[in-house]
Amino acid sequence: MRAIQISELTGPGSLHLAELAAPKQPKDHVLIQVEAAGVAFPDLLLSRGQYQLKPPVPFIPGSEVAGTVIAAPTDSALREGDRVAALALLGGFAEQAVAPLPAVYKLPDGVSFAEGAALPMNYLTVEFALDRRGQLSANDTVVVHGAAGGVGTAALQFLKWRGARSIAVVSTDEKIPVARAAGADEVVLVESFRENIAELTNGNGADIVLDPVGGDRFTDSLRCLSPEGRLLVVGFTAGDIPSVKVNRLLLNNIAVVGVSWGTFALARPGFLADQWSALHPGIVSGQLRPPIAAELTFEQANEALRMLDERRVQGKIVLRP
Ligand SMILES: NC(=O)c1ccc[n+]([C@@H]2O[C@H](COP(=O)([O-])OP(=O)(O)OC[C@H]3O[C@@H](n4cnc5c(N)ncnc54)[C@H](OP(=O)(O)O)[C@@H]3O)[C@@H](O)[C@H]2O)c1
Repeated sequence: MRAIQISELTGPGSLHLAELAAPKQPKDHVLIQVEAAGVAFPDLLLSRGQYQLKPPVPFIPGSEVAGTVIAAPTDSALREGDRVAALALLGGFAEQAVAPLPAVYKLPDGVSFAEGAALPMNYLTVEFALDRRGQLSANDTVVVHGAAGGVGTAALQFLKWRGARSIAVVSTDEKIPVARAAGADEVVLVESFRENIAELTNGNGADIVLDPVGGDRFTDSLRCLSPEGRLLVVGFTAGDIPSVKVNRLLLNNIAVVGVSWGTFALARPGFLADQWSALHPGIVSGQLRPPIAAELTFEQANEALRMLDERRVQGKIVLRP
């Protein structure tokens, strides 16, 4: 099969097409004919050896796919030919991939393979972040950083679906319509986000800030919280890992909450399936439907990572074999 490999950890440019043996189907796993693979920020970090997961080289990146079932455990509800989305963790940038049975979900009619491949990582993360770690309620006002990116657009759709109010933060004017289309009630530019959020909340602040970006906006994000507000630490696309003086938390009765969805979900049997069930009505109704920024070919995998690295993605990129 054709697959994209990383053989050296030098970032975008290091991905190359290879002809490899198709993966074997381990026990309790599903073998999938890949029609689309989601490209996520962790793939960029993996290409530099900067992700928490450090597979030995060479390896095939790609954490999420959509396609059709080639073979599934006989005691499962899946049959050959079923359309599925799956969390493969690694190995998704290939014509065939395997995923553990609890991480494979039937794709509802009307959801394309590209959309399906863009669902698992970001939407399950956002559900975990906002519902479980953030204790979201429909009355909340939620600030979303990196709002035109993959996690950001998923969060905005999720908040609209749940009836909460969202304020999106983006870096450029051209990203404003992307955030609006994903359901943002308000969109502000990063350079003036603190003042704008104060104004939009009548000085009360937001209940939750969802932050996949980190870096130097972190302290201002804390200043945007209302009493008992929660800042959800989701990622560090800006590069720097911020630190916090905890007296700020004490004085303002606010919390910084860590979000590590993968480690939490994978250690708890049944958790992923419950999450997918929770999202399912929104996926079927179309309210949770990833905005696809570009469908690129395997040959363009390096360009996909460059787009993430250069902050050019609006929504989600998927690769087609
Ligand atoms: N904690 C978890 O369980 C979990 C799960 C999944 C993903 N994540 C993390 O969530 C983060 C977002 O992932 P994603 O797939 O949504 O990424 P993405 O689509 O590239 O979006 C990230 C956003 O970050 C902003 N950004 C700010 N500075 C940047 C920089 N120097 N380089 C690139 N982007 C920058 C950009 O928005 P602006 O240009 O508008 O600022 C961009 O749209 C990643 O760190 C990823 O590892 C965490």
